[in-house]
Amino acid sequence: MPEASFLFSQYGRVVDLMPEIVLILDDDYRILDANKTAVDELGVVVRPAHPKYISDILPDDERNNFRSVLPFTDQRIIETRFRKRDGSIINVKGGVRSLHSGQTKYWVLIMRDVTEENRKELDLLRFSNVIHNTINPIQISDAHGTMVYVNPAFEKVTGYTTEELIGKNPNILSSRKHDKEFWSGVWKQIVSGKVWVGKIENRRRDGSPFFTELVISPIVDAHGRIAGFLGAHRDITEQIILEQQLVRSQRMESIGTLAAGIAHEVGNPLTAISSLVQVIQRTSTDEFAKEKLELINSQVNRITRIIRELVDFSRPSARVVKPTNINRIVRDALNIVQYGKKVKDITFTLELDEQLPEIAAVPDQIVQVFINILMNAVDSLDERRGTITVRSRRNEQSVEVIVHDTGKGIEPSALEKIFEPFYTTKTSGHGTGLGLWVSYGIVKSFGGEVSVESIPEQGSTFTVSFPWKGL
Ligand SMILES: Nc1ncnc2c1ncn2[C@@H]1O[C@H](COP(=O)(O)OP(=O)(O)O)[C@@H](O)[C@H]1O
Ligand SMILES: [Mg+2]
Repeated sequence: MPEASFLFSQYGRVVDLMPEIVLILDDDYRILDANKTAVDELGVVVRPAHPKYISDILPDDERNNFRSVLPFTDQRIIETRFRKRDGSIINVKGGVRSLHSGQTKYWVLIMRDVTEENRKELDLLRFSNVIHNTINPIQISDAHGTMVYVNPAFEKVTGYTTEELIGKNPNILSSRKHDKEFWSGVWKQIVSGKVWVGKIENRRRDGSPFFTELVISPIVDAHGRIAGFLGAHRDITEQIILEQQLVRSQRMESIGTLAAGIAHEVGNPLTAISSLVQVIQRTSTDEFAKEKLELINSQVNRITRIIRELVDFSRPSARVVKPTNINRIVRDALNIVQYGKKVKDITFTLELDEQLPEIAAVPDQIVQVFINILMNAVDSLDERRGTITVRSRRNEQSVEVIVHDTGKGIEPSALEKIFEPFYTTKTSGHGTGLGLWVSYGIVKSFGGEVSVESIPEQGSTFTVSFPWKGL
């Protein structure tokens, strides 16, 4: 058995200065020598007469493992665990090398305590997993605000891929709904190390809006410097859209009540005027007066027609609700519309899902809805060549009819107004502005929805949906 002289150099036991654990083993894994760190940390006793074994400092479950890896680990990095003097277990990592002296083989181990490092790494891994898999869209940017990380939820909600976002400023998502002062306020707050919380409107890759509640927290390094920012979003788009719909339907309802009241008030005097005009027409012999009275009559008729539409709508329907085949309704409406003389250059395309379930509705009223929408589509083409496509399809809980035209489209600013009563862009005598308002009310009364998308000069798409579950 050689003396414990392996760790000596011409300078003395330099290895005792090393923070690493240094061990010399023979081929039977006896500990022949150890440096000071090994002695202090692991309580290794170097006793050439009765050497200890490496297994004395290995936790039980590490022994077989160690024996099996060591012979194949020449000059390589290994990771294992040691039991310390106080019984606690540490993770160690380091290099192993075999040395030959004559016939004898030795192992040199230089190991570092990586317990803390491993724990931090694991913590980091856990955090990054949480961030990666959370349903909340999350972005991380550097100290200049340039995005360095986005999670899959962020990709999903924005429609952009990671590659498209990394290296960009988050203003790529700007909806331009918040002004410069707003954002400079946010920036001022976060660079001063404070957390910012607020609701914002963003824009997806396809241009559609999405709303989020955003928390931006500065990431501060060990020296108190800002290393970047963490932006965590909560998607509240659905909630905001519901709110907007509620506001819209409430406005419609109040306008409806008002209109019905006016119709009633105007209706009575109008009837009086109309009968008086007829009496005078019959009794008068003055041709000039008769001619003017005829004019009055036609104007009165026009008002009466408008009033009737209003009253029709506001009067609770006496007609019965019954299972209704939407496809048949669509065909009926189309037949009526196609009689018109403005349709000769229009191609009508029907793509109806024949498996459509029936919905609960009053058929006559639903026909009215589609006549209105189809007439508008015809008008939008202005007697030019074009196409009107009507499709029907079923979703999980609703049936949808989609009417698309290649007409003149609707300006974005008018999209909200078209459902309001008396909103029309048609010349007097051609439009009352009541069609969509009435249609919207009818569809709503059966629990449905009407929505519209349009591109000016390219066309419009009206989608009418009705719930069908539970019929
Ligand atoms: N398919 C469409 N294409 C273009 N504009 C449309 C379309 N449907 C409706 N509109 C617009 O909405 C307005 C209101 O429609 P509506 O309530 O039916 O009243 P009206 O047809 O009497 O004008 C129309 O005047 C038109 O400006
Ligand atoms: Mg109309």
